[in-house]
Amino acid sequence: MMCVSSMSIRMALPLPLVFLLMIHGVSSAGWGVSYSPSHICALKNSSVIMSCTYTYPTGYQIKNVFWTKAFIRGEKPPDLSEDPEYSQRLQYLGDKQQNCTIRLSHVTLKDSRMYYFRFITDKPDGKWIGDPGVTLAVTDLQVESPERVTEGDSVRLTCNSSCTLTDRATFIWYRNSQPLTERRDRNNELLLQSVRREDAGRYSCAVHGHNHISPAVELNVTYPPKSVSVSISPSGEIVSGDSVTLICSSDSNPPAEISWFKGRTFVGSGRIYSISKISSDDSGEYKCRSRNQHGEKYSDAVTLNVMWVSSADWGVSYSPSHICALNDSSVIMSCTYTYPTGYQIKNVFWTKAFIRGEKPPDLSEDPEYSQRLQYLGDKQQNCTIRLSHVTLKDSRMYYFRFITDKPDGRWIGDPGVTLTVTDLQVESPERVTEGDSVRLTCKSSCTLTDRATFIWYRNSQPLTERRDRNNELLLQSVRREDAGRYSCAVHGHNHISPAVELNVMYPPKSVSVSISPSGEIVSGDSVTLICSSDSNPPALNFSWFKGRTIVGSGRIFSISKISSDDSGEYKCRSRNKHGEKYSDAVTLNIMYPPRNVSVLINGSGEIVSGDSVTLICSSDSNPPALNFSWFKENESSAVGSGQSFSALQSGRFYCQAHNQHGSLKSAAVSVTVHRGAGWLDWLGITVACLGLFVLIIILYTILKKRMNRRPAIHVYENDDPSANTYTALDLKSRSFDLYDTLTTVHPRPQSSSSEYENQSSKQDTMVR
Ligand SMILES: *[C@@H]1O[C@H](CO)[C@@H](O)[C@H](O)[C@H]1NC(C)=O
Ligand SMILES: *[C@@H]1O[C@H](CO)[C@@H](O)[C@H](O)[C@H]1NC(C)=O
Ligand SMILES: *[C@@H]1O[C@H](CO)[C@@H](O)[C@H](O)[C@H]1NC(C)=O
Ligand SMILES: *[C@@H]1O[C@H](CO)[C@@H](O)[C@H](O)[C@H]1NC(C)=O
Repeated sequence: MMCVSSMSIRMALPLPLVFLLMIHGVSSAGWGVSYSPSHICALKNSSVIMSCTYTYPTGYQIKNVFWTKAFIRGEKPPDLSEDPEYSQRLQYLGDKQQNCTIRLSHVTLKDSRMYYFRFITDKPDGKWIGDPGVTLAVTDLQVESPERVTEGDSVRLTCNSSCTLTDRATFIWYRNSQPLTERRDRNNELLLQSVRREDAGRYSCAVHGHNHISPAVELNVTYPPKSVSVSISPSGEIVSGDSVTLICSSDSNPPAEISWFKGRTFVGSGRIYSISKISSDDSGEYKCRSRNQHGEKYSDAVTLNVMWVSSADWGVSYSPSHICALNDSSVIMSCTYTYPTGYQIKNVFWTKAFIRGEKPPDLSEDPEYSQRLQYLGDKQQNCTIRLSHVTLKDSRMYYFRFITDKPDGRWIGDPGVTLTVTDLQVESPERVTEGDSVRLTCKSSCTLTDRATFIWYRNSQPLTERRDRNNELLLQSVRREDAGRYSCAVHGHNHISPAVELNVMYPPKSVSVSISPSGEIVSGDSVTLICSSDSNPPALNFSWFKGRTIVGSGRIFSISKISSDDSGEYKCRSRNKHGEKYSDAVTLNIMYPPRNVSVLINGSGEIVSGDSVTLICSSDSNPPALNFSWFKENESSAVGSGQSFSALQSGRFYCQAHNQHGSLKSAAVSVTVHRGAGWLDWLGITVACLGLFVLIIILYTILKKRMNRRPAIHVYENDDPSANTYTALDLKSRSFDLYDTLTTVHPRPQSSSSEYENQSSKQDTMVR
């Protein structure tokens, strides 16, 4: 508080009283500066209004007002408008009466500090500074983002500021300097729910209505290869001897590794695969595989068909020259032949054995082939045959031979066509763990045509949705339901591979506890808890917990002669090498008959007759005892029921608590009743005293009346000479004068006066 200077001046005043009054006046009355708000968070480069009002007592005139950033007690604060760093940016919007608002433009991070307003009046004691001042925090914006994310991830970008901007701040996001118009979120976050590769870029943020833009931050979205394709150069017909280049294109992040396959055989790596001096052996189907850490993808296959150029007129041509056929399928061996004009074809046949110089045997005469062979060609140029139900034994080279009418006109097409017959074999890892990515391959010993469509079976059921182009079945994240016997086939062919077992391992699931016997458990029962779980391999490691304490192991946990101490929550843990899982907790609530039955006395066991004492029967049982009987010792029938009992008489009492499982008696407690004046006794005495008092008053009144009359005196004649006394009963009708006399003559013992008076009153009653 800057009341220091003015106070010290006032202390010079002569009268202490005035001093006290003035202190009061100074402290809160007139002087003051108030800033609203007192803390300002401003964006770098923005303009800030520091709202400010000030007051001072009447009678003062404002001479000078200014703002300062340095306030050191006892030193003259420097005027901010004279500071070269501020003078151009500062604008005083207030007045010389009460408004001290300023605007500071183009704020920088360096402007972050406290600012104070100072005013000086015409009187020497009238100076004031508003301390504490207004705090200005200037912030820039920073995008906080994960450096690299994978396609499909959920990504949160945050536009951070070092102080809290006003709630009304609307954040704007930019990708590659382009505003994301649809993304003007209220809070400072940009949420990309499932990030796509198109979301990659340089992100920056700003606040609506402000120039300041955060530095851009790179968001790198990684993804597996897509759009994998092969291009061939040169395009067009390929003739043996050419140089051919295959180029694999793919889109991925990070860049992928490329491998090349001819049929199923790996032949090279790198984006470009070159074959110089191509030969017909290079004919076939090629594809490339693009792979990065996020996945892999194969291109479609491209076919290189290398043309064989022969100059002779004689030379048989097989197309294709290599045939890969499935066991039990039918094979067509396409074949054409030429011969110089002037010759006439006499005989054509196929043979499987060609030994130079020997006569090749006609295949159609071979009993192993004759039934399966069909000649589809003619006697001019087409030498095609079909061979049905091929077996693995049929794998070999076959030759076409023709014989003309001229002795030198014999020809055999050598090399012949190579037939390879294959069956299918499923190749699969023997055991996998749930969640693994599993690849099953339908293997053949030669490369089947690219048009072969593979069919997969699990437990002899076709996996209809899995008719993959290539010979692989990919189970991305294998589940236990995927376990089974797998076999494969090629669409359109009968042959099915032998089945191969896929064993899927998984950690325990569905772990549960069953209790036997079910239903209510009473102390003393034998109880068995059984842990069930589903896992592969079967869990052999079971642990039992009561609460957090391990109490046993093994699939079965038995408690013989259960007691209430065994009540609680139990669970089991099932574990195999792939993991562990806890069951839900089951609660054992052990019922037991009353025990520890005792009588509590509310108050003391000693009471005064007429009062009662409450006895309370306490017991421990499950379910709680609701039925109580009360007994007095040595009496067979119950004296009461209910948990509490009012004892009215002395004795030794005990209670018996019952629940459905049994009952138990307590020890007896003693209640002693003391004799004493009860309130009824006191009432009797009081009524009697009151009655007597009334009688005395009445007697007194009658006596007074009698004395005012002159009564006749009757002398009582007593013939008994010994009788020298009068008894009260003798008095029949006597004056009270005589009575006075009598009392004088025969004074009565003081102690019995009341008795006497009683008789007197009786007497009196008789008189009337
Ligand atoms: C102080 O002056 C500013 C600028 O003229 C004005 O916007 C503001 O409302 C004034 N404040 C008060 C409390 O009068
Ligand atoms: C028996 O009951 C009494 C009274 O309620 C109690 O103080 C005592 O701890 C109990 N004893 C047992 C073993 O529960
Ligand atoms: C014991 O006596 C007090 C006083 O009469 C009463 O408030 C209290 O409820 C009694 N307690 C029981 C358990 O009856
Ligand atoms: C209380 O228990 C006794 C003894 O088992 C039984 O005779 C009586 O009927 C029970 N009373 C009630 C109200 O359950």
